[in-house]
Amino acid sequence: MPTYRIAWLPGDGIGNDVMEAARLVLDALKLDAQYVHGDIGWEFWRTEGDAFPERTIELLKNVDAAMFGAITSKPVKAAEAELVPELKGKGLVYRSPIVRMRQLFDLYVCLRPCKAYPGNSLNYRNGIDLVVFRENTEDLYSGVEFSPVPDKLRDILKELAKPFAHFADLPGDQYAITCKINTKKGSERIIRAAFEHAARYGYKKVTVIHKANVVRATEGLFLEIGKQVAKEFPGIQMDDANIDAICMWLLKDPDKYGVLVATNMFGDIVSDLCAQMVGGLGFGCSGNIGEELAVFEPTHGSAPKYAGQNKVNPIATILAARMMLDWLGEKQKAERLETAVAAVIAEGKVRTYDMGGSSSTVDMAKAIVAKL
Ligand code: NAI
Ligand code: MG
Repeated sequence: MPTYRIAWLPGDGIGNDVMEAARLVLDALKLDAQYVHGDIGWEFWRTEGDAFPERTIELLKNVDAAMFGAITSKPVKAAEAELVPELKGKGLVYRSPIVRMRQLFDLYVCLRPCKAYPGNSLNYRNGIDLVVFRENTEDLYSGVEFSPVPDKLRDILKELAKPFAHFADLPGDQYAITCKINTKKGSERIIRAAFEHAARYGYKKVTVIHKANVVRATEGLFLEIGKQVAKEFPGIQMDDANIDAICMWLLKDPDKYGVLVATNMFGDIVSDLCAQMVGGLGFGCSGNIGEELAVFEPTHGSAPKYAGQNKVNPIATILAARMMLDWLGEKQKAERLETAVAAVIAEGKVRTYDMGGSSSTVDMAKAIVAKL
């Protein structure tokens, strides 16, 4: 029996192209793994009314890790329109598989390393080595939303929240409410994961990102817990910054930062900023990590216009595979892979279109394999 059982979820569009490339690399590394294909994505929404079928959920319950390509999603009306005739008008609602996956498997860490590999002409600046820890299960993405706002909720807010007086006379259909929910447990575990990562990989500083001065209840809680957790890691410096300010500081002095940790929405924003500083979508990789399962993916989507053209950059997915190796405890293979990717970028001979070249997806994978 192979050592690892890995769910292989290519999804849609270029998800297939980049996952094929990642597989060439993993096979060259001779990872002792069984890869089990899982159905996910638009085709399954269209034909089964579920983009994340039950059999794929079952598969994920019995694997060591998963690699995920990309999926296509569309607005409500467009989604309904593409259902096969038998499924139309049945009240089926499209739900994002990745959001469901995060919730179902409690994948509370969204880990996004952003490193400027020397020689990448897309780097904003050399020397950038940032790791973003984004809380992945709560905050403004909890899904607790009201539009229109029900009378019951308006009555409660009138009674309990003074500042609500400002909205009290508005009819419920004239505004909307999205709840930002942050728990102590959720905040503590993401912040601890960030500090543990800093300790394990030799980062000197963890920056807690927040907006505690204005969003006092939830962001204040996050910052408070940051200060508490920091006490457990005396060797690591903790600092904190407002989300708006950090966007400026990161652009000014990116090399002064290491590990960054934030609540869900601020983490979402700052991780895209960091990814763009090191080459953008062709390089952005991420891990959705829980206690039992971790799912690794490029951060880009299915880019339908390039689907099946063997054209896009597979480095993001190959770096996601590197993250998976690291998470599985295959440190040596992870390092070999990263060294090979860095060597190909430094050499600059093989470059996909986004890097200013004309090499194909498979060319890039083969160049990386050659360096292994
Ligand atoms: P996208 O990330 O798929 O592509 C935007 C553009 O970025 C592409 O047209 C291409 O120019 C470039 N690009 C993306 N990946 C690249 C790569 N590996 N190499 C080189 N260039 C690359 O975003 P878009 O067009 O907004 O969304 C397309 C579909 O993907 C939508 O249905 C969207 O919902 C879905 N999506 C899925 C995600 C996921 O599966 N995690 C994340 C983002 C979008
Ligand atoms: Mg995002």
